[in-house]
Amino acid sequence: MALAMALLLSAAFFILAPGIFPKGEATTLYPLTMTVYDTVTNKPNKTYSTEVAYRGILIGAMQRAKKKYNNFRFTTTYNLDYGPFLESVNGLKGNTTQHTYWQLLIQPKNGMVIVADVGIGCYIPDPDDHIIFKFTKW
Ligand SMILES: *[C@@H]1O[C@H](CO)[C@@H](O)[C@H](O)[C@H]1NC(C)=O
Ligand SMILES: *[C@@H]1O[C@H](CO)[C@@H](O)[C@H](O)[C@H]1NC(C)=O
Repeated sequence: MALAMALLLSAAFFILAPGIFPKGEATTLYPLTMTVYDTVTNKPNKTYSTEVAYRGILIGAMQRAKKKYNNFRFTTTYNLDYGPFLESVNGLKGNTTQHTYWQLLIQPKNGMVIVADVGIGCYIPDPDDHIIFKFTKW
């Protein structure tokens, strides 16, 4: 009887567990590398290591990097339809007059670099993805 109760309680724990992390802090984190690649003003690349939760979104990993490194920062604007849009990285802002913007590139582990077809608020990285923020012109 006591055993059955204990089993029931532990089962309830696993069912309720996701609700126990009120700030959405997941238990398992996966490594990611991010490179800031400026092809317009040609500053040297900067590389940062960060982590993403299982099925977590890229912007979460970017916030984590922002806390970890005092030389990584970014700003976003909010688009009603597409969500957060990357406006600046490390103080450098895209500019419509100068036709500059931050392009989001993804290099999967052992894969080719691809242009992400969604923004930082929607992209769900795979473990060991290399994320490239490329400052470029259109
Ligand atoms: C900077 O990073 C980009 C993207 O990963 C890479 O293609 C380029 O070769 C790097 N430049 C240098 C000087 O390492
Ligand atoms: C964009 O660039 C133009 C031309 O260099 C400059 O006058 C303007 O202030 C810039 N806009 C922003 C929002 O930085």
